[in-house]
Amino acid sequence: MNKHIPSVFAAALLLSPGVHADGDPAAGEDLFKRCQSCHTIDEGGRAKQGPNLFGVYGRTAGTSEGFDRYSDGVASSGIVWDEETLSAWLQGPAQFIAGAKMTFRLNDPQDIADVIAYLKANSPDAE
Ligand code: HEC
Repeated sequence: MNKHIPSVFAAALLLSPGVHADGDPAAGEDLFKRCQSCHTIDEGGRAKQGPNLFGVYGRTAGTSEGFDRYSDGVASSGIVWDEETLSAWLQGPAQFIAGAKMTFRLNDPQDIADVIAYLKANSPDAE
């Protein structure tokens, strides 16, 4: 890796489509403990500070049933959650979608890939 590339851009390069790290859903399940203060992921699970995340991979942002506290930014984004959009979101929600209310982020590209693999494993409609 070219040492003149700032690490934030290096991370973005690692996560760009086609060259992202392979995610491990088991490691992602462990990491998801950090999300659980705000999110459930079981089917029909209740909303907490954040929406239930069952089936989030492949779904349009801001459409989890039973959650009525989305920011306008997320609710009107029209984004579909996939590898690319979830990577950007998890690295900095408010940087990715202006006004986003999720005050949590991950920095490590492998952690991000693992969590995405776990979200995907809990999304029956994901390809
Ligand atoms: C401090 C609470 C908090 C934590 C911790 C948190 N989130 Fe969130 N999350 C939120 C909130 C609040 C929203 C809604 C954001 C909005 O509408 O602006 C959200 C939204 C999301 C969304 C978009 C959901 C949708 O229906 O469009 C995803 C995906 C997500 N979070 C994933 C995660 C993951 C994965 C983790 C752990 C790595 C995590 N979050 C940790 C509070 C949190």
